[in-house]
Amino acid sequence: MSHVLILGGDGYLGWPTAMYFSARGYKVTVADNYFRRNACTEVDTGMLYPIPTLIERAKIWHELTGLEIKVVIGDLSNPEVMRQFFDGRVQYQWAINFNFTGLPETVIHYAEQPSAPYSLLDYKHADFTVMNNLRVTNNLLWAVRDFSRDTHIIKLGTMGEYGTPNIDIEEGWLEVEHKGRRDKFLFPRQASSLYHTSKIMDTDLMWFGVRIWDLRVTDLMQGPVYGVSTEESLMDARLKTIFNYDEIFGTIINRFVVQAVIGYPLTVYGGGGQTRGYINIRDTIQCVHAAEKCPPQKGEMKIFNQIMETFSVNQLAELTKKVGDQLGYDVRIKSISNLRKESESHYYNPQYHGLKKLGVVPNLLTEESLGSLFQMVDKYSANIRREVIYRGVSW
Ligand SMILES: NC(=O)c1ccc[n+]([C@@H]2O[C@H](COP(=O)([O-])OP(=O)(O)OC[C@H]3O[C@@H](n4cnc5c(N)ncnc54)[C@H](O)[C@@H]3O)[C@@H](O)[C@H]2O)c1
Repeated sequence: MSHVLILGGDGYLGWPTAMYFSARGYKVTVADNYFRRNACTEVDTGMLYPIPTLIERAKIWHELTGLEIKVVIGDLSNPEVMRQFFDGRVQYQWAINFNFTGLPETVIHYAEQPSAPYSLLDYKHADFTVMNNLRVTNNLLWAVRDFSRDTHIIKLGTMGEYGTPNIDIEEGWLEVEHKGRRDKFLFPRQASSLYHTSKIMDTDLMWFGVRIWDLRVTDLMQGPVYGVSTEESLMDARLKTIFNYDEIFGTIINRFVVQAVIGYPLTVYGGGGQTRGYINIRDTIQCVHAAEKCPPQKGEMKIFNQIMETFSVNQLAELTKKVGDQLGYDVRIKSISNLRKESESHYYNPQYHGLKKLGVVPNLLTEESLGSLFQMVDKYSANIRREVIYRGVSW
C-alpha cells in the first residue's frame, strides 16, 4: 500500500482528496493547522454549513468504512512540524495505529493561504500569505531533501501564475529562440495578486529543488474549482467539504449559485470579459490521482495546466441565470465596479492536454451539474448571510 501525505487535509480540496485515496487502498495521513477555519472566523465570512473537525471527520470515515486516515494538527510553516513526517517523530492526534506509517511515497501539498482578496486585505494579511506559503513549501523541500529524496511532491499551483498574456499559455514551459540559440524556460509568469505571486515563488522554489537536489515534483496549475460532491462525500452529509460563498474564500461558480438562490444580483466585476479556466472538484481529485500514478523522474519537474474548459465571467453569469430561472429562481445580473486591477477584455488561450492524456475524463459544467449545485445550496439557504457576499476588497 502506497502512503500519501496530504498537507492541508482539512481544506476544500484536501479532505475530499484524503477520502478518495483512502477509499482506493492507500495509506493516508493528513496534516492541517485549521488556518482556513480560523481565517473564516477572523474575517467573518460565511460557510454554507458547519463541518466537523478534522479528527471528527476521520472518526466518521472510520466508522463508515473501517478505513484509517491518520491526523496531525500542526503548523507546517514550522520546520519541525514538517520534518516529523519524515524522521519518524510524528505525533498523530488521531489514528487507529499510532506507529509511524513510514515515509510517504507521495506528498500532496495543498497547505497554503489560497485567497487573492485575503492576501490584499492589508499589509498584515499580505505578510502572512507570503510567509506562510513560502515557508510551507520551503520546509517541505528541505524535509524531502534531507530524508526522502524519492518522494514525489505534487504541488497545487494556479493558472493565475501566468496572468493573461497576449500569447497562448503553454503547459508550464516555453521554448525560446534568442539570437540564434534555443533553450526551454518556465513559461513567463505575471500574477495579479499577492497570493498568486506567492505561488510563482513556490514554483521557483520547487524548480530549484528539482535542479539542485534531483527532487521529483509535479506542479498542477489549477483554475478556480467549483462543486462540492464527490463519490465519497455523498456517503454521509457529515463528510461534505467546506463551502464558502463569501468574497474572500468563495470561488466564482459556487458564489454565483448562492447569490442566485437568495435573489442577490450576480456580482459581475466590471465588463465581465475576464476569462479563466475552470474545473469541477471531482476532476481536481482525478488529476491529482493521475499525477500520483505517473511520477516524474529524479530531477524532473512536470507541469500540467489543470483546467477542463474556459469561461468568461459573463458566460458564467448567463449560465447561472439560465439554470436558476429554469428552476424557478429570479436571477438577476449586476455589473459592479471592478475594484481589482485586471484586464476585463483580453486574449486567453491556455493549453491543457497533458492531464487528459494521462486518462482524466472531464466532468464539464453543464446545466445539469449546475442544477445539482443549486439543489445542494438550496437545502442550506437559511444559513446564507447576505452581508458577507460582497464587501469590496480592492487591489
Ligand atoms: N480552490 C480553488 O479554486 C483553487 C484553485 C487553484 C489553486 N488552488 C490551490 O489548491 C490548494 C488547496 O486549495 P483549497 O481551496 O483546498 O484551500 P483551503 O484553504 O480550503 O485548503 C488549504 C488548507 O491548508 C491549511 N493550511 C494553510 N496553511 C497551513 C499551515 N501553515 N500549516 C498547516 N495547514 C495549513 C488550511 O488550514 C486549509 O485547510 C491551495 O494551495 C490553493 O492555492 C485552489
